[in-house]
Amino acid sequence: MSHTVSGHPGHPGDHHHRYTHGHDAATIASHSARTAVDSAAYLVPVLSAGMSLLDVGCGPGSVTLDLARLVSPGQVVGCDSAPEALEAARATAAASEDTVTRFVVGDALGLPFDDDSFDVVHAHQVLHHMSDPAQALREMARVARPGGWVAAREADYGAMVWYPDVPGLQEWRALYQVVARANGAEPDAGRRIRAWATAAGLTDATFSTSVWTYADRERCRWWGESQAQRYAGEKFAEQALAAGASQADLDRIAAAWRTWGGSPEGWFALLHGEVLARV
Ligand SMILES: C[S@@+](CC[C@H](N)C(=O)[O-])C[C@H]1O[C@@H](n2cnc3c(N)ncnc32)[C@H](O)[C@@H]1O
Repeated sequence: MSHTVSGHPGHPGDHHHRYTHGHDAATIASHSARTAVDSAAYLVPVLSAGMSLLDVGCGPGSVTLDLARLVSPGQVVGCDSAPEALEAARATAAASEDTVTRFVVGDALGLPFDDDSFDVVHAHQVLHHMSDPAQALREMARVARPGGWVAAREADYGAMVWYPDVPGLQEWRALYQVVARANGAEPDAGRRIRAWATAAGLTDATFSTSVWTYADRERCRWWGESQAQRYAGEKFAEQALAAGASQADLDRIAAAWRTWGGSPEGWFALLHGEVLARV
């Protein structure tokens, strides 16, 4: 099974101890644009009203809250290791008058929930931030009830393709990969999802792929600008400088993203690998 999703979702990016992109305004805004359909379409067909659901690494919670609408009145919990992301999630919940979904601090590698707690345990773009992605999947399976579902979707930096080939964007990818790996994470995650699921003992699993596409003026400008702001932002810069990049490198990458975002021919495809497993 494979499907293509066209939309204006945000960006993958971090890890267990250190979130590579940081939770700056550009990152939170970019993650807040996501929906269940553009980020979890492979999961939506198995959801039904009344299911309980845990969203691991929920970030600012836009996907969580959209999933909550699909399983309402089921109990939904979003958990993340970053309190600032959870604050954004609670604000979005309040603005959308969701008084049911809870957001709690929790580490994906040791989830603060009992065994067999949820019908569905979901993670979007979280494993590629982990030092031990198979352990995160094991934890997700532990807190899912027997007969329930574990679902994860991961981007793959090495498989991202774009046009035009603006100088500076290959450098962007290489720098991101270096910084993520210095944090102990694997950014070419989509292609590894089967290996990670197998290592976690998820034997009854279906694997699929889907793609985010940026190919019109508005989306390209938005994507280019959100990337530029991220690479100009302090949180990523700190880590990139520690990994050997210079401020001039970061400025060149931010400028390259703006050039790409303004191109009338701009096109960017972001491949994801997905696993949907019965526990
Ligand atoms: C790329 S964001 C994805 C956010 C959200 N799932 C979405 O798609 O909008 C990755 C999230 O994983 C969280 N994260 C990173 N390491 C974590 C860990 N060890 N435990 C829980 N959350 C973690 C980060 O704080 C961040 O919010």
